[in-house]
Amino acid sequence: MVKKEKELKRYEFLLEEIRKHDHKYYVLDSPEISDRDYDRLYQELLEIERQHPELISNDSPSLRVGGKPLEGFEKVVRESKMMSLDNTYNEEDLKEFYRRVSEGLNQTQVRVIVEPKIDGLGIECTYQEGALSLAATRGDGFVGENVTENVRTIRSIPLRLNPDPSVPKTFQIRGEVFLNRSDLGQINQERRREGLSEFKNPRNAAAGSLRLLDSKITSKRPLKAAFYTFVGGENVAPFQSEVMEKIKSWGLPINFGMEVCQGWDELIAVCKRWEKEKLKLPYDVDGVVIKVDDYAQQRQLGQTSKAPRWAIAYKYETEKAETRLKTIRIQVGRTGVLTPVADLEPVQLAGTTVSRASLHNQEEIQRKDVREGDVVIIEKAGEIIPQVVQALKERRSRSHRAFSFPSKCPVCGGKVGKFTEEDVALRCLNGLSCPAQLKESIRYFTTRKAMNIEKIGPALVEQLVDEGLIKDVADLFSLDVKDLSELERMGEKSAQNVVESIELAKKEATLPRLLTALGIPLVGEVASLELASQLGSLEAGLESTAEALVEKLCAVHGIGEKMAKSVVTFFSQERNQNVIRKLIQQGVNPTVERKANKGKLSGFAFCITGTLSRHRDEIKKEILSAGGLWTPSVGKKTDYLVAGENIGANKRKAAEKNGVQIISEARLNEMLRMGIQQGEK
Ligand code: IVH
Repeated sequence: MVKKEKELKRYEFLLEEIRKHDHKYYVLDSPEISDRDYDRLYQELLEIERQHPELISNDSPSLRVGGKPLEGFEKVVRESKMMSLDNTYNEEDLKEFYRRVSEGLNQTQVRVIVEPKIDGLGIECTYQEGALSLAATRGDGFVGENVTENVRTIRSIPLRLNPDPSVPKTFQIRGEVFLNRSDLGQINQERRREGLSEFKNPRNAAAGSLRLLDSKITSKRPLKAAFYTFVGGENVAPFQSEVMEKIKSWGLPINFGMEVCQGWDELIAVCKRWEKEKLKLPYDVDGVVIKVDDYAQQRQLGQTSKAPRWAIAYKYETEKAETRLKTIRIQVGRTGVLTPVADLEPVQLAGTTVSRASLHNQEEIQRKDVREGDVVIIEKAGEIIPQVVQALKERRSRSHRAFSFPSKCPVCGGKVGKFTEEDVALRCLNGLSCPAQLKESIRYFTTRKAMNIEKIGPALVEQLVDEGLIKDVADLFSLDVKDLSELERMGEKSAQNVVESIELAKKEATLPRLLTALGIPLVGEVASLELASQLGSLEAGLESTAEALVEKLCAVHGIGEKMAKSVVTFFSQERNQNVIRKLIQQGVNPTVERKANKGKLSGFAFCITGTLSRHRDEIKKEILSAGGLWTPSVGKKTDYLVAGENIGANKRKAAEKNGVQIISEARLNEMLRMGIQQGEK
């Protein structure tokens, strides 16, 4: 008993120490101890928690790594709306705002707060008895989503505040969650690796991270937070700036750069200064926010239904630059899509030299009437890739002709058209006979999510195709050291490395990744998994008749009719058949165990939800090995929903809508033993 009390004391001491150091590190940016010493404290805390799980405090830093994934977010209805702000874009309008405010207050000098407007997403946190109890997104202002699990993982947000008698029993604060610009690259790199689309800007990445159902993933994203509103602040101090300083002393991160200004001259000077200095901040700032500092005056001015009359955002123009568009180049992608890119005279823009900009597609060029030789305005509006905003037509000489999209592929001279009527993109219709598409598809074949041939990069693919050493992906596997070392800039040692890396990839190939690598239209990484377990091998794709294959694939959840047809078309094309046969001959022929067709659950599809007595994956495995199918969500193809405790209302509704029978875990166990009786469903 004595020992346990001692450990409890030590545990509380560690909690407090770690909390203190987290604050110094994440909020004040001035760590006091080394990472190593911090880690020692943390490991000791984990050890106590491991031995005495009953001691684990609900504000333990060990909870910051995320918990069980959620099925969805609960709604949070708030009493006072999270307002938005009116915007101004120039000094004149800002002056007008200041005039309105001073008139409304009958004063010539008004005391205001000026602070950077962080480009993130709004959240509201509730603290009860000094501990974080709830965090919700802004949503539509009234109704937000409960993202507490995810917000807990944001290291700068304290789970417990500094003990201070002035901390109210319950209060709400509002602020912004955001990411540093430099963290976007890392996140996108991971997403690329997983075959997911990249985030366009730090704001989208922050929003995506905060709305993940799996807080374990959120905990790996370096999200930051800054608070700028205290709900009901007038009960704490007469001025908002004072309240902000107060909450800072409680351990909360507040907006960096908050300044109090007296009167117009000070106000406009600070606004102008931030316009230059915002680039020095590590995160995106799209303007400044100006607020009347005195709560009594805020109340006097009141608000419209949308925004307060005592605050305004002064938005900076997105950075633009003027340069000459030299040429419009057409890139040909892996699936033949023709994408126009503007080659520019290099120009400085928002801290980097820009020599290329995106033009998206043919329609965009026509709409903006951008021509080669034009002087154009480009901007980086939050996006990483600069965009052409407009062409300065008045500075155009007569020799600039309207750009006409090529009617032939710029690489192979093949016909240009659309796959289907609905298709927006124009493509080269020459398929893999087009060297550009061939190169892109070989490059794709070698990428990490596909065959993962590490030593072959885009430049080598280019050389191999140009030298005629490979005509398709299967040829990669017949390359030898002699062929390779004859290439320019290729020594014997590197040639050896390339061959070894191909051999390794061959050994480690799996059917799902090989199917991904083949680049079958519409079939991505996830669909390849299903496809692989339905096919079992490449040969099965070659040998099945079209009808049988469509039928087989359509029965799988996650493969729709369109995708099934695309697979069938792919396997029926002679060129693809030849490549697949060559691959098999080269020994690139991984197989997977086919889903058993005959089994107790054969022909029935199950979805699993709620808390069950065993891990879901375990149950899923049993269903699959009994010949059943598993569907990740309840849909038309689902027959049974196995529901544990706490089944969500949405799942229940989806089951009713799709005529899916809800069964218990016990019933599933029976089915696994006895099978499903005819007509039971
Ligand atoms: S004050 C009643 N201050 O901008 C006024 N908002 O466009 C409440 N924002 O919803 C907002 N930085 O999400 C305020 N320093 C700042 C801000 C800020 C970013 C966001 C916030 C708000 C949106 C309005």
